[in-house]
Amino acid sequence: MGDECPSGGARVIAAVAAAALLSADALGIVPAPQSVQAFTATYAVPRQIAIAAQSPDERNVAAFAVAFFAQRGIAARVVSPSDTAAQLRFTTQALSANASPQAYRLHVGDDGMRVNAAAGAGLFYGLQTLEELFPANGNLIHQVEITDAPRFRWRGIHLDVSRHFFGVPVVERYIEVAAHFKLNVFHWHLTDDQGWRIQILRYPRLTQVGACRSGTEVGNDPTTIDPHRYCGFYTQAQIREVVAYAKRRYVTVVPEIEMPGHATAAVASYPWLTCLPGHYEVLKVWGGSDDNFCPTPRTFAFLRGVLSEVLALFPGPYVHIGGDEVPREAWKASPAVQRLMRDRHITTYAGVQAYFTRVIEQFLNSKHRRMVGWDEILDGGVSQTATIMSWRGISGGIAAARAGNDVVISPDPPLYLDHYQGDPTVEPLAIGGYTTLERLYNYDPMPPGLTASQQRHILGAQGNLWTEFIPTPELLFYRLLPRELAVAEMTWTPAQLRSWPSFSTRMRTQYAWLQAQNLPFHIPNPTMRLTGMDGLEVAGLQPNLRGISAGVVGPAVRVALDEAVPNAVIYYTTDGSSPSAHSTRYTAPVDLRLAPDARAELRAIAVLSNGRRSFATTLVLYRAGAQTP
Ligand code: ACM
Repeated sequence: MGDECPSGGARVIAAVAAAALLSADALGIVPAPQSVQAFTATYAVPRQIAIAAQSPDERNVAAFAVAFFAQRGIAARVVSPSDTAAQLRFTTQALSANASPQAYRLHVGDDGMRVNAAAGAGLFYGLQTLEELFPANGNLIHQVEITDAPRFRWRGIHLDVSRHFFGVPVVERYIEVAAHFKLNVFHWHLTDDQGWRIQILRYPRLTQVGACRSGTEVGNDPTTIDPHRYCGFYTQAQIREVVAYAKRRYVTVVPEIEMPGHATAAVASYPWLTCLPGHYEVLKVWGGSDDNFCPTPRTFAFLRGVLSEVLALFPGPYVHIGGDEVPREAWKASPAVQRLMRDRHITTYAGVQAYFTRVIEQFLNSKHRRMVGWDEILDGGVSQTATIMSWRGISGGIAAARAGNDVVISPDPPLYLDHYQGDPTVEPLAIGGYTTLERLYNYDPMPPGLTASQQRHILGAQGNLWTEFIPTPELLFYRLLPRELAVAEMTWTPAQLRSWPSFSTRMRTQYAWLQAQNLPFHIPNPTMRLTGMDGLEVAGLQPNLRGISAGVVGPAVRVALDEAVPNAVIYYTTDGSSPSAHSTRYTAPVDLRLAPDARAELRAIAVLSNGRRSFATTLVLYRAGAQTP
């Protein structure tokens, strides 16, 4: 048609018609980008491609691209930018005057693929989005123009390795998955009452003694102890490896060395660190102890020594010093603390903690690092340069932002990912709570009531994963996923673009990715939609915490089941028994007929091709007018 049209105007119209738009949600990108133009037209990635890259960052990201393409049967080689044959180009260039170094532009057209960004992080994020364009099978991707940048600077995920220890391969996988979803901070909770996990050369007993406990609480019953010795720590070489692994993926590692509370493992290693002499043991049970650090010159010298080694291992700008849940009993009984309070005119124990925190912060600042602490460090007054991690709700975060301190939002709930995400009576034991994907998704991390200048102190948000009830890597990823994707979108995507229906649509693509990656994740229960004989939807049957919907209906209802995970098969029963993969396979809506006074029950599960299954959704119906139990 264009050939027969002499006028340039008609050619433009033809080109626009050819560039038919596709819904951005159809691409399934999480976190949703700032601006997406997606086209129905596709680009077939050849079996052999060249990738143009030159600077160290371009070549770093190109190496990830080569690995990605290799998995898809595409042989890619890196060439110089002057090679005009390249099908994929990574180019570092300023996108606009104020663009974040994490911003990027992604183009896929008939002329190939291009990622432009001002810095390596943006190139890496452009590649992650490009990878998400690929379908589960095949190498035909939609043409797109994407312009993207993060909403927040701090997009964090935390991991507690004290309560249960996870080795380097698990930690690296954890970081790899986080980076794929454009999270950029890994908060590594390395020390606590139940184990010290980082080798410190000056103080070898920290890992000789502090990295082992002589048993572990079973479940959440402190009277039942599994007597096996439980040990684990990272050598400094391993820490360096993890930090480098994260850096290649533009993830900053923030180490946490807990003080002055949650110090039992340190105190068990060197009892002189505490105020009261005695014999201390690494805790076998969950919860804390009174055995905190004593604010003496000897303790501070120890902590400076520990932190000196920590700083040498972690080049990032932030060091987390804990500061949460500090017991004060030992301080009250301590002549040294009484003397300190007299000499320094400190009148409260919160003031003693504030003094402790200031001594440590001054040391960190002298080494050009910034201190992060849990919001308790606000209690006795804190310097302007401290960054506050708000976990006891957001009031600490609001107060800190108003006082001019930087803040990371991570309240319990909903950003504690150790909470249940399904029926607590059937899910693996968790610490409590109930934070579904939807509830987490709908949380906005920007606290209300802040002025624009106060809002600038909200660095971002973070999901925290405490591991008392997470003994295995399998369960670790199960608790994390898919909720980490909600954390990613909450911290990356502009608030006005966030939408649960859109996210749910895109999650179908992401559930397929999680399966392809063989990652364990929480499989959503099938959802149910009911219509009556009149064809109208039966409303008001909201599932409770246990996924049970119950209600009174007419003589017949039609139940349509749906599953959020692609390729999941739904099985159901109508006789009250627990469904399994041997139950009736769902293929079409189920009609339930109810005689007067009758009760009907339908239970359904979703089963993936790898055999993993969801917990059941249960529907209990009573005939209208009939007696309900
Ligand atoms: C915390 O959860 N104790 C910070």
